[in-house]
Amino acid sequence: MNWIKVLAQDELPKDGRTVVKVEERAILLLHHNNQIYAVENSCPHLKLPLKKGKITEDGAIVCPFHRSAFDLTTGNPVAWTPFPPGVGKLLGMISTEKSLSVFPTRIEEGSIWVGI
Ligand code: FES
Repeated sequence: MNWIKVLAQDELPKDGRTVVKVEERAILLLHHNNQIYAVENSCPHLKLPLKKGKITEDGAIVCPFHRSAFDLTTGNPVAWTPFPPGVGKLLGMISTEKSLSVFPTRIEEGSIWVGI
């Protein structure tokens, strides 16, 4: 695994989020509950951006489009295309259920590092 310095720590305030480019990937950084999470900014369903996704109380990010939800720590799906009601199930068949890519993070020398 390569550790890559992606952002100054103070550029991601509490509850902040931003997208950084790391080796051709768009990675969404989230500062949530005193943790820094790094996830692919691309929903595994139709590859649409997750940046505006809500975060649930149990730590999952919800895609703003068809509301698939993924655990921020493991990337495992906790919901697959439940929205819109009825149609969401059909949309879910376009692509098989997949996990979201998640990456380890660490803080060092005042910067956020992501392991790729
Ligand atoms: S694009 Fe994310 S659930 Fe469809």
